[in-house]
Amino acid sequence: MTFSTVEFSFPAPELTCRVLFGEAEGGLAEACSGRVLLVCDQKAAALHGHRLPARLPRVMLPGGERRKTLATVRRLYRVFLEHGVDRSSLIVGVGGGITCDVTGFAAATFMRGIPCGFVPTTLLAQADAALGGKNGVNLHGYKNMVGTFVQPRFIFCDPAFLETLPRREFACGLAELVKTAAVADEGFFCFLERHATGLLQRDRALLGEAIAAAVRIKMGIAGRDERDGGERTLLNFGHTLAHALEKSSAIRHGEAVSIGMAAAAAISVRCRLAREEEQLRLTALLQRFGLPVRADLSWEAVGDALGRDKKKRDDRIDLVLLRRLGRGVVRPMAREQMENHFHDLHMHR
Ligand SMILES: NC(=O)c1ccc[n+]([C@@H]2O[C@H](COP(=O)([O-])OP(=O)(O)OC[C@H]3O[C@@H](n4cnc5c(N)ncnc54)[C@H](O)[C@@H]3O)[C@@H](O)[C@H]2O)c1
Ligand SMILES: [Zn+2]
Repeated sequence: MTFSTVEFSFPAPELTCRVLFGEAEGGLAEACSGRVLLVCDQKAAALHGHRLPARLPRVMLPGGERRKTLATVRRLYRVFLEHGVDRSSLIVGVGGGITCDVTGFAAATFMRGIPCGFVPTTLLAQADAALGGKNGVNLHGYKNMVGTFVQPRFIFCDPAFLETLPRREFACGLAELVKTAAVADEGFFCFLERHATGLLQRDRALLGEAIAAAVRIKMGIAGRDERDGGERTLLNFGHTLAHALEKSSAIRHGEAVSIGMAAAAAISVRCRLAREEEQLRLTALLQRFGLPVRADLSWEAVGDALGRDKKKRDDRIDLVLLRRLGRGVVRPMAREQMENHFHDLHMHR
């Protein structure tokens, strides 16, 4: 049987995502006209509510990875209905990576998509989670299984929010900075090593420089590969194991990524891709930032998470490894190979 085929092409939606550095209150007041709804992380709003324009209505989201679910998204849909949100409205997520993920997903799917913007209030969200247009929620504990690729209209990075971050949350943000540097920019990695002390002291100028570098690198990569088919995969460095850890324990995302990167660096050396010296530099920097580099984890937990990984093809998984600091590579790896590495790394219980 033959088919007659007519092809249709669709112009990509014209959309510019602006990343702005500065004081959020004035910026938001200017950017937000028409019907606006702020979706705020409860804790961030309690600490920084005065930094948001008082005239804008806000709803609160309780925090926690366990709440990054479709149930929370449904709750938001109901709130949108109650507030008369429509396609001319603007939804603004104010909070950490969880708030940005949930809000971005709800906005991208409500009425087939309404515009949204972000005011990330954690270092992790300013340097990573709010950027690039991936919005997702967890399904039965499996990370980011349901999601969209939709760019926010704007992202306001205001350093004032970062002053109240607990030490552990701050370190989690540093983990994603290390990730970006390790796979994409050696100069940035050296910057992080050189200024580790100042960054830990939250020196505003250094922090601003580090966030701006991470934004430039991540937005550059996302602009060239929005849908995660090639170069963007590199930004998943450390995340394969991290997702297994997050599924099986209450560990924070950044801490799980730190452990995942240390393991991936060790595998890179075992595969003769990277030198041991580079693995040691990576783990030394993570430890300098107060991050964990080892975990007590069973192969069953890892194997289960691998089975659901979005980078899985047949029985192989695209694992991000290091060629050297500043240069990541993607290597397909069979499940048995992964299991051998895992046991040799002595991560198992
Ligand atoms: N979409 C993406 O591309 C992407 C990228 C990286 C990470 N993520 C996701 O981001 C999430 C992690 O983000 P996170 O670490 O920001 O977590 P989070 O949103 O849970 O925030 C961490 C904690 O800090 C609190 N908090 C927020 N702002 C604060 C402030 N200014 N002062 C004090 N406390 C504050 C929150 O209430 C929470 O308890 C994970 O779910 C991860 O999967 C998504
Ligand atoms: Zn991450």
